Amino acid sequence: MRISVFGCGYLGAVHAACMASLGHDVVGVDVVEEQVAALAAGRAPFHEPGLDDLLTEALATGRLEFTTDPQRAADAVVHFICVGTPQKRGENAADMSYVRSAVATILTLLKPGDVVVGKSTVPVGTAEQVAERVEEQEPEAELVWNPEFLREGHAVADTIRPDRLVYGFRAGEGGERAARVLDEVYAAALADGTPKIETDLATAQLVKVAANSFLATKISFINAMAELCEATGADVTQLADAIGHDKRIGRQFLNAGVGFGGGCLPKDIRAFMARAGELGVDQALSFLREVDSINLRRRVRMVDLAREVCGGSIVGRRVAVLGAAFKPHSDDIRDSPALSVAAQMQLQGAQVTVTDPAAIDNARKKWPELAYADTVDDAVRGAEVTLLLTEWPEYVALDPVELRAVAATPRIIDGRNCLDPATWRAAGWTYRALGRP
Ligand code: UGA
Repeated sequence: MRISVFGCGYLGAVHAACMASLGHDVVGVDVVEEQVAALAAGRAPFHEPGLDDLLTEALATGRLEFTTDPQRAADAVVHFICVGTPQKRGENAADMSYVRSAVATILTLLKPGDVVVGKSTVPVGTAEQVAERVEEQEPEAELVWNPEFLREGHAVADTIRPDRLVYGFRAGEGGERAARVLDEVYAAALADGTPKIETDLATAQLVKVAANSFLATKISFINAMAELCEATGADVTQLADAIGHDKRIGRQFLNAGVGFGGGCLPKDIRAFMARAGELGVDQALSFLREVDSINLRRRVRMVDLAREVCGGSIVGRRVAVLGAAFKPHSDDIRDSPALSVAAQMQLQGAQVTVTDPAAIDNARKKWPELAYADTVDDAVRGAEVTLLLTEWPEYVALDPVELRAVAATPRIIDGRNCLDPATWRAAGWTYRALGRP
């Protein structure tokens, strides 16, 4: 099937490459020339395991192209909207300008029978407006809202084998027909037994923000328990293991630490609150304000703990920060707790050196005043305290005996509760963590 993908950022680039790998004929359209050039050369402009290989293979088949020219998408029958919806500057609400401009372009291309598919995370009510505009422009075209649930670092697998597919469309013949077209796009996943929920437009849009709000709440719940653990001498990791054995609760997303960041969870809960306010149901989501506050408090606590470990002041102290990305297997530093802690410490007078296997270039652009090192040894050399803030596997596997030889003072704060305290203490380190004695 001939498919177009508007927006070739994180979501769109992965979606385009995956759809081509499934045998579809795909054109990815974006306005950023360098991004298009990199993708057309088989290089993802961001770190995502497996994506470069997938791009190279798909481009070699001739079934995938990237362009800045929307006319290349004129013969596509399915048009995916995959643009970003970042947080507006100074406001909680989402910036919808990219969605508006992608929709305006797609409208100029519509033919009878075309299906427009919304994948971007949007405030509920957006899809209804897009559906009306599609209908006005081409009565025989239809909109389906089909939210994306991919996780950075696992984006390829999540796209090819999603947990579930959600289709939101308007009742009637046109919607049914469009849903069957989408079934052809996702034929491989459906044949594998992927669950599918067909619903209305509002539910489909809400599913996405509800899912991300639930995940954020789960993380903040365990981080709130970490605060209780700190006040009582209890251990939040054992607490999480114990409650996680209850299948109704589950152990996933109960890792306490410096909290959630990235381009999705923080901005999605804020945009959701803003939308609830517009709808007159702000009370329904007031708990998300607390979720956000608990999350941000963990960053402050991390800085306070470093100060405590350094004997009351971090001014002039050499600090090593392991991790800049908002999570491992990513070079994404958007709202990264690791970088936020590093920057706060630097602003409060510490001399901070950051290392990360993938995100140093991005971090340097955002925070040029921080020092950067290519290796853990270089970052830790001479450090009076070391903070582990992104749980890259190579950091989890560090040998405390070897690392002790380079640190000025063997003090480690485990901001992700991913190290074994006994091993580090046995190697002579002062080990501290969030929510753990
Ligand atoms: C998130 C959702 O997990 C995806 O399902 C969703 O599709 C995506 O947003 C999106 O909206 O596009 P992602 O932002 O890639 O995916 O990252 P997550 O794996 O959810 O992690 C988010 C943050 O939570 C990270 O900073 C991570 O370190 C933190 N986290 C995660 C914790 O602090 N504790 C945990 O137990 C789990």
